[in-house]
Amino acid sequence: MTDTHIVTIERHIIEEERRRRASGSFSNILTDMALAAKVISRQVNMAGLVDILGKAGHSNVQGEEVQKLDIFAQNVIYRAMDHNGHLCCMASEEFEDFIPIPEKFPAGDYVLVFDPLDGSSNIDVNVSIGTIFSLYRRVSDEERGTVEDCLQPGIRQLAAGYVLYGSSTMMVYTTGRGVHGFTLDPSIGEFILSHPEIRIPDPPSRCYSVNEAYHERWSPAMQRFIEELKRGDSGEGGFSSRYIGSLVADFHRTLLKGGLFMYPADRRSPNGKLRLVYEANPLAWIAEQAGGGASDGRERILERKPSGLHERTPLFIGSAGLVERAVETLSEI
Ligand code: AHG
Ligand code: MN
Ligand code: MN
Repeated sequence: MTDTHIVTIERHIIEEERRRRASGSFSNILTDMALAAKVISRQVNMAGLVDILGKAGHSNVQGEEVQKLDIFAQNVIYRAMDHNGHLCCMASEEFEDFIPIPEKFPAGDYVLVFDPLDGSSNIDVNVSIGTIFSLYRRVSDEERGTVEDCLQPGIRQLAAGYVLYGSSTMMVYTTGRGVHGFTLDPSIGEFILSHPEIRIPDPPSRCYSVNEAYHERWSPAMQRFIEELKRGDSGEGGFSSRYIGSLVADFHRTLLKGGLFMYPADRRSPNGKLRLVYEANPLAWIAEQAGGGASDGRERILERKPSGLHERTPLFIGSAGLVERAVETLSEI
């Protein structure tokens, strides 16, 4: 008898809320994020048919060319969240400073940090892209928040998730009770529970994921580590390599199959490229909740105290044993 009951993400969020005896506002924020994901997914799937491809003609705070879809995704999430009365402020990859909830709307006790569109350089070539988000409780007494509310260590996250706009659109989230994946059924406009209780497989698939174009810029220890993975020193044969160049897609494969995703430091980028607050922290919590690990090469990502909204960090994330192996190798002189 096939399991016929359908669990939508909205129902799952409410059931999680009941189990946690949480306040409804927490759930409403996650439900609003699911709505935003559906709107962005529709536009992503129309990209190429509507004037949404290409560059917006200016650079963002990171000095990177902004894509029209970056702006669209930013606006969709902002408009889904600014009036629900549950947030005091937000922080986004696309804004230099934190974003207080406007005076015309009520403010709440939660903080949302997000990368509205990850992997945007891949939009025009139809490669999977994503959205990444984390939810915190405020720590300041300011009604509409302060930047400190957005700079909390990842261990204080209340929820973390991502949306993958790929061959199907998936939303994956955790509230500290496991990781759950939902696939969008466009015919009914609902995210349906498709991947309950995701656990990183053990033993993991023998796959590593890194941009090897930067090999010459890595430390000798990092170069040695990749050579070891290729040789398969541990006797079971070498690893295969997969690198999509879209963090959410590379991470999602690592979560479902195991392996190790790396974006290391190098001589030109001593802190790597990925951002601690709205890329590494959400994915690190999801990885740990699925039985995996996440490190900056020295310490646990979730224990890092961010000093700036757009602070970058090296990232080693995936199967716990492989993350530990990377940290050990990188600590050798
Ligand atoms: P974003 O589009 O939000 O700026 O993120 C892009 C990131 C991430 O998606 C990916 O892992 C990384 O850029 C790829 O960088 P390289 O091209 O240097 O490998
Ligand atoms: Mn990104
Ligand atoms: Mn982005």
